[in-house]
This record gives sequence, structure tokens and C-alpha cells, in this order.
Amino acid sequence: MAELRPLIDKLKEDRILSHDEFVRMFTCRNPEDSEYLRSLAQETAVANYGHDIFLRGLIEFTNYCRNDCLYCGIRRSNSKAERYRLTSEEILDCCEIGYGFGLRTFVLQGGEDMTYSDESFCELIREIKRRYPDCAVTLSVGERPRKTYEAYYEAGADRYLLRHETSSPEHYAMLHPAELTIENRKRCLSDLKDIGFQIGAGFMVGSPYQTYDYLAEDFAYLKELEPHMIGIGPFIHHADTPFAKMPDGSYEETLYCLAMLRLMFPRVLLPATTALGTIDPLGREEGIRHGANVIMPSLSPKDVRQKYLLYDGKICTGEEAAECHACLEGRIARIGYKAVSARGDHADWVRK
Ligand code: 5AD
Repeated sequence: MAELRPLIDKLKEDRILSHDEFVRMFTCRNPEDSEYLRSLAQETAVANYGHDIFLRGLIEFTNYCRNDCLYCGIRRSNSKAERYRLTSEEILDCCEIGYGFGLRTFVLQGGEDMTYSDESFCELIREIKRRYPDCAVTLSVGERPRKTYEAYYEAGADRYLLRHETSSPEHYAMLHPAELTIENRKRCLSDLKDIGFQIGAGFMVGSPYQTYDYLAEDFAYLKELEPHMIGIGPFIHHADTPFAKMPDGSYEETLYCLAMLRLMFPRVLLPATTALGTIDPLGREEGIRHGANVIMPSLSPKDVRQKYLLYDGKICTGEEAAECHACLEGRIARIGYKAVSARGDHADWVRK
């Protein structure tokens, strides 16, 4: 009873724990301490961000992918995935719709689709920045050579999301084919940060073969990396992947990790992810109650939404962007928060 309280206080105070202490936080998780952790995390988020929730318009522009990650529904060997890619014009149309809702960040996310040349992708970034100079452009297009990242940055991209997935080489190899390595992932993340991007890292909670030792290593790696954003969500199986029969990640454990991250990184941008909203109908609201302060509504055209399926049961695949936007604003308002129209750069708070 309340056995973890001293560790939770220590996490809040020192913003880090030892490996063994992290493991104890996971193995001894219990409802009473979870509620204590949650209340401190929510208090910390409110102290830093008030009741503001930042929205990022997510444009899932291609589900072609050269990679074969074992957990992911758009892996290249899933022949059942119906592939699509949006044209630059279609992507710009999504931005126009999102801008109209007040969104000031566009996240271009896709599989590692090699048909967009660096040149054409940079031209698209420049065009978005030309039309919407007050908006941030975030990219989430996987592992690329440093030179390509530099070109994206010069074209005007502001931020880059690349989850590290798991920081343990051993665990990384259980989730990915041999040609993908944690060394290259980490190289990408440090290049991106070095180039000047605001970066996002993160992992899935309850991914197959994850242990509390691995999870503790993820927290330690994040402390070392110090990303501007941390995206986490539960692993959810996809029927047409090798992990079809693997159990989904725990909802409570995901919320618990969110709250721990909020205490460790009081000002980090912490999204309540779509996967969290998929595993529980009120997942995103609970995410906010556990310290999250970002939501990423989809701006993808309705006819492609049900094709960008990384896992089974994904929510919001039957709605138009406008319906999603209105629904989210309502959900945020009902729990006493406010969806704000702002770029929401991490540096805005760090400077204060
Ligand atoms: N369940 C939950 N999250 C997943 N992702 C990919 N596949 C799944 C899945 N089956 C996450 C990965 C990736 C992000 C875009 O989506 O962490 O980085």
C-alpha cells in the first residue's frame, strides 16, 4: 500500500530513477500509487501548459513502405494492404482544410515510400511553408540519410517524429527484420536533433517480448536523448502480421507510462495517441488526465483512412476531417480543457 510513493516523489524531484527503481515502478504498479502518480502528472502538465491542448493535423500521405517491421500493418510483405499515395495537390488540399479548422501544425506521415524523390518532397515542404508561413511542418517518414534530413530542414521542415520503438538492440531485433538496427535508428535521431529539428521519439507499451528491463532502458534512453516530443501508445495486434496472435499492450500500463514521462519531462510535448483512443473509447481523455497535452487529429481524405492501418480496430477511419475535428474539440472541452490554435513549439515554454 502506497509502497511506491517515495519512488514517485523521487521521480518528480530528480526526474530520473535508477534502472532497478524503474523496474520496481513497473513490477509493483498498483491502483493506489497509480492514482497518486496520475494526480501529480496532471498537476505538472497544468502547471506548465494550463488547460491548453495542442492539435497537430496528421496527413497520412502514403502507406507504401520498404520496411517489414513485424508489428506493423503496412509492412511490405502484407499483400492484403491496399496501397495508396496522395499527390502533392491532395496533400495541399488537406493542409487547406486543416488550416480552416485553426490547425497550425501539419504532420506528414507515411511509410518509407521511395517514390517521392528528395527533390519533389522538398518542393512540397517549400510549397506548404509558402502558403502557410505561420504553420509548422512536421515530418514522419522514417530512416533516411543525413543529407536527406538536411535537405528537408533547408526546405523548411521544423520537426521530425521517429519513434525509437525500443532502445535495446536485443528487443529491437525481435521486432524488426535484420536490415533494421537500433544503431541506425539512434543515428537518425541524433542527426535530426543535431541538424536543428525539434524531434519526437517514443515506443509502444506492451510490444511483443517487451520486459520491464527493456522498458526501464527506454526511459533511460529518453532521458539521454531529451526529445521535444514523446509519442507512446499501446501495441495493438494487426491480423495480417506475424504478431497477429500477440496480446495487446495494457491500457493501464500505457497511462502509467504517460504519467511517469510527464514527471520526468515536465515540458515535453506528450500526445494522447490514436492507439490509446483505440484500446479504450475514452483513452485520449484519460491520456490528458495522465499528463498528455497534444492530440493529432487526422486530416487524411476519408477514402484512404481505412487503408492506413498500422493495427486492427483503428478509430476515426470512417469520418471526414471536419467530423473528427469537431468530435475532438468536444471531447477536450468536456473534460475541462481547451483545444488551442497555435504552433505549440517546445521552445516557447523552455524559454519562459
Ligand atoms: N500497434 C501500435 N502501434 C503501432 N505502430 C506501428 N504498428 C503498431 C501496432 N501494431 C506505431 C509505431 C510507429 C508508429 C507510427 O506507430 O511505434 O512508430
